[in-house]
Amino acid sequence: MSTSSPSLIITGGAGFIGSNLTLALQQRFPDARLTVIDDFRSGDFKNLAGYRGDFVAQNLATLDWYAQFGDQKFDAIFHLASITDTTLHDQFVQVHDNVESFRRLLNFARPNRTRIIYASSAATYGAAAAASVESDGAAPANVYAFSKVIMDNIAIREVKEKPDWIIIGLRYFNVYGPREAHKGMPASMVYHLAQQMKAGQRPRIFKHGEQKRDFVYVKDVVEGSILALEAQTSGIYNLGSGQARSFNELVDVLNRCLGTRLPADYIDNPHAHYQNFTEADLNKARSALGYAPQFSLEDGVTDYMRWLYPEVRLPA
Ligand SMILES: NC(=O)c1ccc[n+]([C@@H]2O[C@H](COP(=O)([O-])OP(=O)(O)OC[C@H]3O[C@@H](n4cnc5c(N)ncnc54)[C@H](O)[C@@H]3O)[C@@H](O)[C@H]2O)c1
Repeated sequence: MSTSSPSLIITGGAGFIGSNLTLALQQRFPDARLTVIDDFRSGDFKNLAGYRGDFVAQNLATLDWYAQFGDQKFDAIFHLASITDTTLHDQFVQVHDNVESFRRLLNFARPNRTRIIYASSAATYGAAAAASVESDGAAPANVYAFSKVIMDNIAIREVKEKPDWIIIGLRYFNVYGPREAHKGMPASMVYHLAQQMKAGQRPRIFKHGEQKRDFVYVKDVVEGSILALEAQTSGIYNLGSGQARSFNELVDVLNRCLGTRLPADYIDNPHAHYQNFTEADLNKARSALGYAPQFSLEDGVTDYMRWLYPEVRLPA
């Protein structure tokens, strides 16, 4: 980026990934002018402890950007706000709020060609048996994923028609890490299993724990998102760890971290459409963004458990 004091907007900055991103941007660019927009529908102000920037409490699905910001110019807009509860089945609300929020933001950003970095999702791939490549067709299994597919479609159309505008979509995989507890049920399985095990309960996972996920530590996806500030071309990129790991392996890692020896409690899977496998192919993100995840599942979970349970003495 050409300036060390950029003007940046982060939508969804009171949420899990958004707050980690906001605080990382503040640290990386101490002179930045940061503005978070969030309506707190699933976020929490407590995630932004230590934040020194501005905050606009507005619903993006109805926000009048010009009334709010006039002719202010921004170097980039990170758009992470979204309904993130994938079990919310109200199709109108899910698509309306997620897609119209994006459309309003694009309408504001278009005249100045403000760089957009928005959160898409691995959910757009639906059922997969091998590593997902960005060119794989979309197969949304729920309406949340459908809303993300529509956002990708809109972004692809915009940059085709306006090649001088950089819009970057990031398909986050299964993110875990600090500042996700406010999400409740939609928080990561790493968080939920850790909480169960910390309370001395056997970790409950679906039979028989061999389903695999690309669990990616939030610090890696934050770094990948910041790298998108420098990307020279538009595109949609996977941000994952690049490795599918099973729930059984996750339980092993947590047992080692927490010093417990709790065997999994296998329960029936009630979900008809369940992703049995997610894994990010990272070739495109590596070459276009220079993305290189630093945290294996072992390293990420250890780092997270130190943050979550500072009182627990973890193995070195
Ligand atoms: N966490 C993951 O594993 C994961 C995976 C793939 C994609 N994503 C995407 O990453 C982004 C961040 O997810 P997260 O896990 O931090 O979720 P989150 O629920 O913690 O954060 C979303 C934030 O957006 C805000 N928000 C939602 N709709 C809004 C609206 N209309 N107007 C204003 N604010 C609104 C919420 O209040 C919340 O603070 C989302 O776009 C999500 O779809 C997350």
